[in-house]
Amino acid sequence: MASKSERKVILETRGVYKQFPKVLANQDVNIKLHEGEILCLLGENGAGKSTLMNILYGLYKPTAGEMYLNGRSVVFSSPKDAIRLGLGMVHQHFMLVETLTVTENIILGSEPGRGVQIDYREARKRVKELSETYGLKIDPDAMIENLSVGLQQRVEILKALYRDARILILDEPTAVLTPQEVEELFGVIKELRASGVSIIIITHKLEEVLDISDRVYILRRGKIEGERATADVNKEELANLMVGRSVVLTVHREPHEPHPEPVFEIENLHVLDDRAYPAVNGLTLSVRPGEVVGIAGVDGNGQSELADAIMGLRPVQSGRLLHLGSDIARMSTKERIGRSISYVPADRQRYGLVLSMTIAENIAMGYHDRSPNARGINLDYPAMARRAEELIGQFDIRAPGPLTPAGQLSGGNQQKVILAREFTRKPTFLLVSQPTRGLDVGAIEYIHSEVLAMRSQDVGVLMISLELEEIFALADRILVLYEGAIVKELDPDRTDEREVGFFMTGGKEKAS
Ligand SMILES: Nc1ncnc2c1ncn2[C@@H]1O[C@H](COP(=O)(O)OP(=O)(O)OP(=O)(O)O)[C@@H](O)[C@H]1O
Ligand SMILES: [Mg+2]
Repeated sequence: MASKSERKVILETRGVYKQFPKVLANQDVNIKLHEGEILCLLGENGAGKSTLMNILYGLYKPTAGEMYLNGRSVVFSSPKDAIRLGLGMVHQHFMLVETLTVTENIILGSEPGRGVQIDYREARKRVKELSETYGLKIDPDAMIENLSVGLQQRVEILKALYRDARILILDEPTAVLTPQEVEELFGVIKELRASGVSIIIITHKLEEVLDISDRVYILRRGKIEGERATADVNKEELANLMVGRSVVLTVHREPHEPHPEPVFEIENLHVLDDRAYPAVNGLTLSVRPGEVVGIAGVDGNGQSELADAIMGLRPVQSGRLLHLGSDIARMSTKERIGRSISYVPADRQRYGLVLSMTIAENIAMGYHDRSPNARGINLDYPAMARRAEELIGQFDIRAPGPLTPAGQLSGGNQQKVILAREFTRKPTFLLVSQPTRGLDVGAIEYIHSEVLAMRSQDVGVLMISLELEEIFALADRILVLYEGAIVKELDPDRTDEREVGFFMTGGKEKAS
């Protein structure tokens, strides 16, 4: 590989500032991207990473500062300009149109200047080719709204590749992928690098930084805090640079005896997916107060349908859902929430938050007919704001104040709003799906300790996570989900990631 000095700088920022009405998101940012380099941008939730990438991509105008592409000063008035000059971006939150197909989404707006008549069949063929070349399997005619989060991310990646980007910006692309998919994606990224494409990738996972990048910039509170050649750093140093203190990378789990009587039971549950195929197939499990039950599985084995069914967001075909002994399978979502069931969904923008509403409103959401948010039938806004203020402090939500719309928060801080709401309403049963997706290491440390605090307060926790590391960090029992059923129960102290992975991929026990 050519050394840094020999390699051409393809993209550069000089003195970039971005001032939002209440937040200075970027301050004097100077970065360089070399041709054929994989650059990682690391920083806490709200540090200004997405903002900077959105500036590079022409979505935001910098308040001050300059950008150079191949040594020439450029000013983008919209992403169209950026795309024309060879930039591609995969956003942190999907920008797909739910009611269009995969192919329609991929070609949407990507061929400026060629008129509106795009040959769908040609496009579909190219999408197929691209998806085969890069191992990003997808049905080109599938409707976006029917795709899982992981598959939607795949469409976003294909969309950028379809545009022949020379510079590819990936904002947390791995947050929604399975370990297997991450490996595949990294293969794609390395191939792209070999063909001279330059890549900027954002990830909160320090192993991924070490695994994929050539160089890393650390952003803290809007400023570049440091720059390192990846070969010269380790996890601890990265975490330190990011957070400004040392971070405990694994929380300590005290032994805790759960109560014998289950708080939540699922009996022989059957649920269909969006295309009316069986997704949950006779699933049975129980959760006791004071334990964390971790569901491990490869994405697409019924996780989202299971969570939907528990919360009443999808009908139960047959089977029982028992909360404190009563069957809730026919109750509305509102009734279930009213029964002290808390839920942290995997897709925060679909079910968790209303982006146009304030933090205070989002925190009160679903519970606003009860104190402390209500006074008779009127909403008590000052009380809502006070409550939000408290939780902003407790959960370290980086926001100007309780009246900031959720949509103006960084991705990780949006997640913290949901966690704050769901963890603090004294649930008896807590269902969490991918609770730390998109959170920085400091925030993960905090959330993990909060999950364990719930456990020591005798809340029954059912955690669905695609991250084995998270399952091992928190679960008292590991249930392996495969093709919609629990195929194996394992004791985290007597198993390892290899064995769990074996059952996750359909491995069968040898007959003895
Ligand atoms: N459109 C906007 N309007 C107002 N403030 C915004 C807007 N977008 C971002 N911000 C603020 O700018 C800061 C930086 O946000 P940004 O999304 O760039 O963070 P990030 O580093 O990408 O964080 P994360 O890791 O959580 O995704 C945050 O304080 C955020 O609330
Ligand atoms: Mg971001």
